[in-house]
Amino acid sequence: MSAKKPPHVGDVSRRAAAHLLQAASASLSARGEFVVALSGGSLPKLLAGGVGEGELEKAGVGRWTVLLADERMVALDDEESNYRLVRECFPGLGEEQVLAVDVGADVGGAVRDYEAKVGEAVAKSGGVFDAVYLGLGPDGHTASLFPGHELLGVEGVNVAGIWDSPKPPKERVTLTLGCINQARQIAFICTGEGKKEVVRSIFEDEGCRLPGALVGGEGELDWFVDEGAASAMRNAAKM
Ligand code: 6PG
Repeated sequence: MSAKKPPHVGDVSRRAAAHLLQAASASLSARGEFVVALSGGSLPKLLAGGVGEGELEKAGVGRWTVLLADERMVALDDEESNYRLVRECFPGLGEEQVLAVDVGADVGGAVRDYEAKVGEAVAKSGGVFDAVYLGLGPDGHTASLFPGHELLGVEGVNVAGIWDSPKPPKERVTLTLGCINQARQIAFICTGEGKKEVVRSIFEDEGCRLPGALVGGEGELDWFVDEGAASAMRNAAKM
């Protein structure tokens, strides 16, 4: 990102998609697997929108295993379902490749089921996600990890449930911070002026404890941010 020519949503979309395709190709070459988690919200559309014709096939899409960074406890065909969104945005993925949360169970049951699914999936790629793609809420939440919420302190598991999400619906299932932070690659995709204050805070406020600021571990962390989302930053040129 440069201060002279800030990226528009289309550029962010293309760059993030290139990151995804590169992560997939590299993981498949290195380990024969690509195990990736995707958030909901605007992210699946932004990512898929930047993929050119034939590129998914070239990046071995038929061999990907896709999980959800978080899911809303609604029917899988509901407008609000992240599963539905991912399936619609990436029609090249077979049904068995996108691992759904058991939204027919209660939150506790869905967490146990998804913990098993995540565990089995990441076991194929050395125990960690190859890549996790995250959105960012204007309050600094990411996946379904909300500012100040006790879920941020959950340790030793990959998946947790939330019953009191400030963003509807209240009941959700999410990857934990510990699980996300172990990923080989993590990327945020964040667009629009509505995010400018939270992006500024994450990059410029020392000791920022917003969930988005707590993401990052041993692996690579990348941010794909457009002009609007970066517009409150003093140091945008350094991103
Ligand atoms: C969900 C999410 C959530 C989302 C952010 C940003 O609600 O399902 O996964 O964490 O990524 O709220 O959403 P937008 O990209 O739509 O602003």
